[in-house]
Amino acid sequence: MKVSRRLILLNANRPNVEQSINGTTSKHVLEASHVHFSYENKYTVFNDINLEINENEFIGIVGPSGIGKSTLLRILGGFLKPTNGEIYLMGNKIVKPVPELVLIHQSIITFPWMTALENVMLSLRTKKLSEDDMEKRAHAALEAVSLQGFAELYPKEMSGGMRQRVAIARALASDPYVFLMDEPFAHLDELTAEGLRQEIYNILFSSENPLKGVALVSHNLTEVLELADRIYILNNVPATVVGMLRVDMPRPRNPRSEIFNEYLDRLYGYLTPAGGKIK
Ligand SMILES: Nc1ncnc2c1ncn2[C@@H]1O[C@H](COP(=O)(O)OP(=O)(O)OP(=O)(O)O)[C@@H](O)[C@H]1O
Ligand SMILES: [Mg+2]
Repeated sequence: MKVSRRLILLNANRPNVEQSINGTTSKHVLEASHVHFSYENKYTVFNDINLEINENEFIGIVGPSGIGKSTLLRILGGFLKPTNGEIYLMGNKIVKPVPELVLIHQSIITFPWMTALENVMLSLRTKKLSEDDMEKRAHAALEAVSLQGFAELYPKEMSGGMRQRVAIARALASDPYVFLMDEPFAHLDELTAEGLRQEIYNILFSSENPLKGVALVSHNLTEVLELADRIYILNNVPATVVGMLRVDMPRPRNPRSEIFNEYLDRLYGYLTPAGGKIK
């Protein structure tokens, strides 16, 4: 498909990360190493968080409300500096936000005065591209989320699911290596969310875009089990990783199957007071 090939070609042009892969010891796409974090008011959110995303891996992060999931994504994305510990992207220490790491926030995120196309083009403004190239790439990203033909619509003319797709297209257009998603389906009705979930894995890991890893934060354990290769469970105050569940179910996964429900039980087990031990 010609449009998507363009995304790959542009990706070839990212020396700051590519070059530094050589000579580093980390095999991980993204890694949090001994991360401690306290907010300015001294509230300690994390105590020694360690996690990683391997190449082409989709990880889930779950935990009770207020435990620090959004804070962790902001730290992973370089938006917050850990009090102690480090974040590495392809072996490079991250100390500020970089275009290779994109965070899709918990609350959405489309600008009502811009069309779908303009919303997507926003993420390309920092790149040195002509207006024409930006427009072509934005169209390609809209096509990747099946919104071709809707480029001129304003957010108020779109459904919630379409707006969510615009947000995903905007993130995809900037050719990130890693997608950090904070409750990306939370504001959608269940049917729309289910439809988008079924597509998202294939969109994200299609050979047509350069994405190497995804972290998804969600309250919805079924959603995380549908999507993730591995799931980190956060609990306690300050929060630590109390468990990690590897999900060895073929895709597409059927939430009504017996094996799915066994996984669900295990996940609940980690999150209920009696849980908390790696099984
Ligand atoms: N800017 C801030 N200053 C001080 N404390 C904060 C700040 N932002 C968040 N917190 C606190 O940090 C903790 C973690 O918040 P965070 O938003 O990361 O939780 P969460 O796991 O994403 O919750 P939810 O599931 O409800 O989205 C909470 O106790 C919250 O009150
Ligand atoms: Mg949150």
